[in-house]
Amino acid sequence: MAQALIIYGSETGNTRRAAEMIAANMVEGGHEVRVLDVTETGVEILGEPYDALLLGVSTWGAIDEEVCEDFKRFYADLAGVDLAGRRVAVFGCGDTGYDRFAKAVDFVAERVRQRGATIIAEPLKIDRDPAKSKNLVETWAVALARAI
Ligand SMILES: Cc1cc2nc3c(=O)[nH]c(=O)nc-3n(C[C@H](O)[C@H](O)[C@H](O)COP(=O)(O)O)c2cc1C
Repeated sequence: MAQALIIYGSETGNTRRAAEMIAANMVEGGHEVRVLDVTETGVEILGEPYDALLLGVSTWGAIDEEVCEDFKRFYADLAGVDLAGRRVAVFGCGDTGYDRFAKAVDFVAERVRQRGATIIAEPLKIDRDPAKSKNLVETWAVALARAI
């Protein structure tokens, strides 16, 4: 059994619901999972010895390196954190109607990679309501549960 921490930022609840679905699947896979809203925490928590860290972020504008509003502080602070040896996966919701679909997921994945983390799963991009992509989300979570 591994211990995983999920931290998510979500403006209208889609990425929050994705985080909950992923957590439920990982718990079913035998792991202990803590889920935190990014507004209730800070990068200090990354000092805690979780076996896997999952970051969820939605996309609200993607011209520059934008992330959703509530994830901005955490994203900026991430630039100063050493993640060497940490195992991280990134997911988040967007809308395929936009040219730059769910780009915040790429921005966060790139940042954690730059800080030395090992990305343990292909970043997961979800089109709006995760309940409508149940198979996609669950398949990703189950694979992740096996990988940690
Ligand atoms: C002003 C605005 C800008 C957005 N920009 C993007 C974008 O560039 N790319 C994208 O994939 N989705 C974009 N979206 C859609 C949201 O990412 C999408 O609704 C997402 O599911 C919201 O997830 P959340 O509820 O977790 O915040 C935008 C939505 C709004 C309202």
